[in-house]
Amino acid sequence: MEVVAAQSVVTAEHVEAFRSILGEANVWMDEETLQYYSHDETEHLHFLPDVVLKPRTPEEISAIMQICHRDRIPVTPRGAGTGLSGGALPHLGGVLISTDRMNSILHIDERNLQVTTEPGVITEVLMDAVKEKGLFYPPDPSSKGSCFIGGNISENSGGPKAVKYGVVKDYVLNLQIVLPTGEIIWTGANVLKNSTGYNLTQLVVGSEGTLGIVTKIVLKLVPLPKHDLLMLVPFRSLEQAGEAVSAIFRAGFTPSALELVEVDALQIVSKFVDSSAVPITEDTAAHLIIEVDGNHIETLMSEMEAISELLMQYDIGELYFADDAQQKAELWKLRRRTAEAVKVNGYTIEEDTVVPRAELPALIRGVKELGVKYQFHAVCYGHAGDGNLHIRINKPGLSNSQDDPQMIEGLRALFALVKSLGGTISGEHGIGLIQKGYMDIVFEETNLQLMRAIKKAFDPHNILNAGKIFD
Ligand code: LAC
Ligand code: ZN
Repeated sequence: MEVVAAQSVVTAEHVEAFRSILGEANVWMDEETLQYYSHDETEHLHFLPDVVLKPRTPEEISAIMQICHRDRIPVTPRGAGTGLSGGALPHLGGVLISTDRMNSILHIDERNLQVTTEPGVITEVLMDAVKEKGLFYPPDPSSKGSCFIGGNISENSGGPKAVKYGVVKDYVLNLQIVLPTGEIIWTGANVLKNSTGYNLTQLVVGSEGTLGIVTKIVLKLVPLPKHDLLMLVPFRSLEQAGEAVSAIFRAGFTPSALELVEVDALQIVSKFVDSSAVPITEDTAAHLIIEVDGNHIETLMSEMEAISELLMQYDIGELYFADDAQQKAELWKLRRRTAEAVKVNGYTIEEDTVVPRAELPALIRGVKELGVKYQFHAVCYGHAGDGNLHIRINKPGLSNSQDDPQMIEGLRALFALVKSLGGTISGEHGIGLIQKGYMDIVFEETNLQLMRAIKKAFDPHNILNAGKIFD
């Protein structure tokens, strides 16, 4: 299939047209702004856009897209820039559309347990706003304090709560999007069940800003659970920690979070945030963080007790219970800031592997073996309850995964292992720029052709976030 590449440069006339659509103040071309929008949290990659646009309305985005479609100008949509796969990187230059100013929560519908929001709202701000009404929006990526809900839609984000409550896709009911051609559509309806034609809503969720720019979002909410309990379990073997994860589910428990953090990562993050909340003994290899939530505290206490008993069959150290809100917050801070801390400490490459839960020990074993073979050091952490393991890699002198043939070979071997275990290469960070070279490991060419055909139906001139997910 012929793929038309966007390549036209942004001219002075284009900039003039953008200014007349958005007003002078919302068209940015100064060096500092261009630099700021040249990177996200992905490895150490930088690409300068030609111009940064900050629209306020879908109609403004529509007017911009009509020009870019007509003149084949590359457009990169961007939320808060916390992504880890390069989805928001303007690698072809051109126009970058930031959703910074589209930051209103439009309506909390307490009758139907729904919220309608614009994309530039910080996820935690949205969570707090619905919490005030006794409602809960569960998907909580580690970056919830800074990421935008629009970016979460684009990446189909997860986070610790996904293990019980599901990921972003499970909460998106309906989306307003601006198509690459400039048309504005709603993808579905504000309903919990919908068998009306192809599911365009779910097609857009996780499409990494390649099919349209999300301008309004309708999300499902659930009642806020009244209580939670949090426990930390030290393991002397990383593999055993992995084994315990699936045993907990097999025994009939569904924790509201079941996270794993390897001890190297915990040491780094403890130092990074200057915390001594978790005493680390010499023989500890990894910790599981286990949370249960619900409305009846007695039930939760007996559930936690039963889980503790089950874990006694493993080689574990002393259990630590977070007693109050402050201790819980401290533990979660350590977990949530792990990625950032290890990155600063040289672990620049982050993988987002996911396997069926019971295959976690095999994945962990494989990671360590591949590290020896391909000469990198890896630390593991992540959403063990989902089989979703983040692997941060430190290879001295290397800051990007694409820059070294041996690293690429090592990653191909890792992803082949993941595939052989029934898994895939991204659970919640997306493919973006940095994983697209590995899509052939998990998909047939036929799958990729179908994706390209869908892309072409939405974006005939291939202008919107082109070259992300696949070439
Ligand atoms: C986390 C992010 C990196 O789980 O997904 O910390
Ligand atoms: Zn994660």
